[in-house]
Amino acid sequence: MKVEMNDIVAIAKRRGFIYPGSEIYGGLANTYDYGPVGTELLRNIKNLWWEYFVQRRDDVVGLDASLISHQAVWNASGHTSGFADALIDCKNCQLRMRADHLIEDYITLLNDQNLETGIQNLTSIHHDKRFSIIKTRKVEGLSSEEITLILQKFKIPCPKCSEHAWTEVRKFNLLFPVNMGIVEGDQSLAYLRGETAQGMFINFKNVMDSTRVKLPFGIAQLGKSFRNEITPGNSVFRTLEFEQGEIEYFFDPEKSNWEELFENWKVTMWSFATEVLGVKAENLRWREHTDDERSFYSKRTEDMEYQFPFGFKELWGLAYRTDYDLSQHEQHSKKDLKVVDSQSGTKVLPHVIEPAVGINRLLLMVMCDAYEKTEKRTVLKLHPRLAPFKVAVFPLLSNKEELVGKARKVYDDLKKHFTVAFDDRGNIGKRYLYQDEIGTPFCVTIDFDTLEDDTVTVRDRDSMEQKRIVIKDLSSYLTSQINEKM
Ligand code: GAP
Repeated sequence: MKVEMNDIVAIAKRRGFIYPGSEIYGGLANTYDYGPVGTELLRNIKNLWWEYFVQRRDDVVGLDASLISHQAVWNASGHTSGFADALIDCKNCQLRMRADHLIEDYITLLNDQNLETGIQNLTSIHHDKRFSIIKTRKVEGLSSEEITLILQKFKIPCPKCSEHAWTEVRKFNLLFPVNMGIVEGDQSLAYLRGETAQGMFINFKNVMDSTRVKLPFGIAQLGKSFRNEITPGNSVFRTLEFEQGEIEYFFDPEKSNWEELFENWKVTMWSFATEVLGVKAENLRWREHTDDERSFYSKRTEDMEYQFPFGFKELWGLAYRTDYDLSQHEQHSKKDLKVVDSQSGTKVLPHVIEPAVGINRLLLMVMCDAYEKTEKRTVLKLHPRLAPFKVAVFPLLSNKEELVGKARKVYDDLKKHFTVAFDDRGNIGKRYLYQDEIGTPFCVTIDFDTLEDDTVTVRDRDSMEQKRIVIKDLSSYLTSQINEKM
């Protein structure tokens, strides 16, 4: 059965993965809080990302830059002038939307013939752009006038009230300004970072000067970014604050072939998603950005997309950003950011390839990918590496001291090796169903036979098979079973 977004949102709330932000005060749009198991899942994904992309490599080093940064950083990067979405409001019901998303959602549903005829009639849009819209059904890179034209031509209705009564298209900057100190004004203006990437560029020289790195090498960062996003819905797919995992991979374009590096990064990203996170390859694909869509400084951009319940959407971007960012920061800061080649003595401004992913999108992806619902149960078949708890321990009855004491002992022993949950509420069937929904791969029950022969029942989440295992072998049995699932 195809997974629906409503199912994911429901299980996320019901079982403590994701709660709507500020909920007891009526909620705050596009913000979310992670509950007890969501926090574990998020942490597992971040740890795996860090281990795979930083700790296991000898050509990537880590960074943890400030969330608040100087306004000059964002002037240099182009975010204060160019980092904007086109917004419109419905005059009838006041729904505020990103115009590009409204159009894309609408034209996705048109048949090829209607889309082609409609778009080809808009001759004031350059014919390459028209071709790109028809081919990709994406409208990134269009001007406000071009967006307005499409809205009018297709008489796109409001998804909430069905009226076609849109305001003018307005550009809205995504950066979150913050005022430092007590005096408001230009001097005190700073920004919450809109991407982690700029931290790597402004610290490039610091890292070069303070470590033993040499080109080619990457600087990686995992942390929060902030964007004043308008689009509502789809849980944590697009939010105001989110966690990014980004790597700026610096290289000398004279010595490294960017196309080769680009292909290598594609392979690495793909294997992280399929092998480390265990996501089904058939739900992933690559999509190359068209010329109109790509930032002007990028030579190539490809998105790894995942088939979410609301369609194939960007999960992870890979961009060859040339030397754009370092050269912008050189110009604005008046600091020399070039590297001296140790052999030739010549100076080079490194180019960069950037894999950039949203950790919260990875979390939403693994939840969607793992979700299975049958008549009997709902189960999250999370990869054991990701599961918030690897094992749950139950005493058969909560009012029998011998059983509870023995279960506590088993729990304490297993905790030395795994993340373990303890549950003595309700009947065993209900406890299994609960653990299935939070993705726990194994449940261990302590019953009256345990008191006689020191064996326990181990129940497998996926096959639902049960086995009796002697307690002294339990930890090694579970380790081998978990490894088998990996
Ligand atoms: N430094 C390049 C950069 O930030 P991006 O495509 O804007 O590129 C990279 O963002 C990734 O961050 C996206 O592929 C997506 O996974 C995630 N992301 C971006 N905006 C997001 C948002 N508002 N909420 C959640 N994740 C977001």
